[in-house]
Amino acid sequence: MPEIEQFAAPGSEWWRSAVIYQIYPRSFADASGDGIGDLPGITSRLDSLKDLGVDAIWLSPFMTSPQRDAGYDVADYRDVDPLFGTLADFDTMLEAAHARGIRVIVDLVPNHSSDQHVWFQEALKAAPGSRERARYIFRDGTGENGELPPNNWESVFGGGMWQRVTEADGTPGQWYLHIFDATQPDFDWTNEEVREEFRSILRFWLDRGVDGFRVDVAHGMIKADGLPDYTPPSDADSMGGGEANVPYWGQDGVHDIYRDWHELLAQYDGDRALCGEAWLPTLKKTSLWVRPDEMHQTFNFPYLMTAWDAKALGDVIRESLDDFGAVGAPSTWVLSNHDVVRHATRLALTVDNPQGEGIGPHTPNKPDAVIGLARARAATTLMLALPGSSYLYQGEELGLPEAMEIPDEYRQDPTWFRTKHERYGRDGCRVPLPWEADAPAFGFNDTGLSWLPQPDEWATYARDVELADPNSTLSLYTELLALRRAHGFGSGSLVWEDFGADAVAFRRGDVHVVANLGTAPIALPGDATFLVKSQPFAGSELPVDTTVWFTRG
Ligand code: GLC
Repeated sequence: MPEIEQFAAPGSEWWRSAVIYQIYPRSFADASGDGIGDLPGITSRLDSLKDLGVDAIWLSPFMTSPQRDAGYDVADYRDVDPLFGTLADFDTMLEAAHARGIRVIVDLVPNHSSDQHVWFQEALKAAPGSRERARYIFRDGTGENGELPPNNWESVFGGGMWQRVTEADGTPGQWYLHIFDATQPDFDWTNEEVREEFRSILRFWLDRGVDGFRVDVAHGMIKADGLPDYTPPSDADSMGGGEANVPYWGQDGVHDIYRDWHELLAQYDGDRALCGEAWLPTLKKTSLWVRPDEMHQTFNFPYLMTAWDAKALGDVIRESLDDFGAVGAPSTWVLSNHDVVRHATRLALTVDNPQGEGIGPHTPNKPDAVIGLARARAATTLMLALPGSSYLYQGEELGLPEAMEIPDEYRQDPTWFRTKHERYGRDGCRVPLPWEADAPAFGFNDTGLSWLPQPDEWATYARDVELADPNSTLSLYTELLALRRAHGFGSGSLVWEDFGADAVAFRRGDVHVVANLGTAPIALPGDATFLVKSQPFAGSELPVDTTVWFTRG
């Protein structure tokens, strides 16, 4: 029975329906030529994003950082790291984006700082129990002489979650908590001084004119009282996506913080927005992050993690519209980002590959590239027809696969080191973009340097090659974004349709959207007039791993 999903759209705020393109600054475009992307590089390539047709960009961190976790280890929240340029370069980029009608979201990393942050350096020099230590989570060790960590928690990147310090007098001292790398100490968010500091950091960027923040590890900021021991199941998702009641994920105390920030943003004009990175066990719980007085958006990771299966995909879309709709928030949709295997590869996986594991030279059963790309194009063609806000990750518009053959000596993800090379980590989705097939570093810069090696075959994915090909993935994305805008698909309702158990199918107004996730072609109505096909085909049989938008008559 077809059902109608009414998508709740209380206002006309831009973020309810926006397509937001994630820029990973290290790998987007490199104006300085040092092999690492930068802000002037982004400015120089903004026209390509305007041509693509996105509404906003989100930039992964470019603030001062020793880069132990590619910038997610911030040493100064109010400045730009020299690797990426200067604050003046940021202002220039922001102005240039706004001049093209593109909004700009920056990444806020509030769960932890870098160990090079002045507060952490002060904490190391100060005594146990001091005001300086109280900004982070320092505890005495257990065991006879405090030689054992305060509890049994394990870091997302592997190994323990505690690091012991040497006190100022040279004796072995307290331990500090780090959910991620040991160079990323967690703040104590029960401390009002931490809260006040972050209010001021938010104002710093809002005053400069940013349109919002993507909030890193939004579900980790509050830890359960008493820091009780916790042993995750052996197949647990390291970011907490699968389990309820984890003492460091999804604690209720986080909501006060978001309400506080919501009020702060509301003091500014222009519908500034917060988007939370929260990996939670259910969509219902995720929807609590976006109640009307909290964050505006949160990433839909259950959707991202759904395998290429019609029933599972239909269910997660239904549930997303229901659960986010129930709190008056738009659903978001996302298929790739800088932490997961690119969806042109992931959707063809035949074996389990948990988030953070990555794929490298020794991974068995490598996914099929042709199937992966077909599915990725079909998945995106479906996603961009859904009501709500969609996130794209740089390079997916070129159909880039995961770089699976990066030699060990280039790897940079802390996961690789902390798991003693057991998990490859996330470098494979972070390789610098190919812009021009015949240029040094494929046009990423003009020196040919690249912080991660670009696979030779990426010449075929270069933007200039794809621009010239009407059947390229870039042409498909450009067409989809234009049609999505023309039909107002970012908001409104959706009517489910039945094209059999292997299809996900719905109607948006008079446009029918059908995706074939099965193993046999699906018959489409003979009077279908196609608006877009995720890959070319003739006739009215929808091939496998293909999505179409069509009208009738
Ligand atoms: C988030 C980021 C990831 C980073 C981690 C620690 O999950 O997306 O890249 O490593 O937080 O900051």
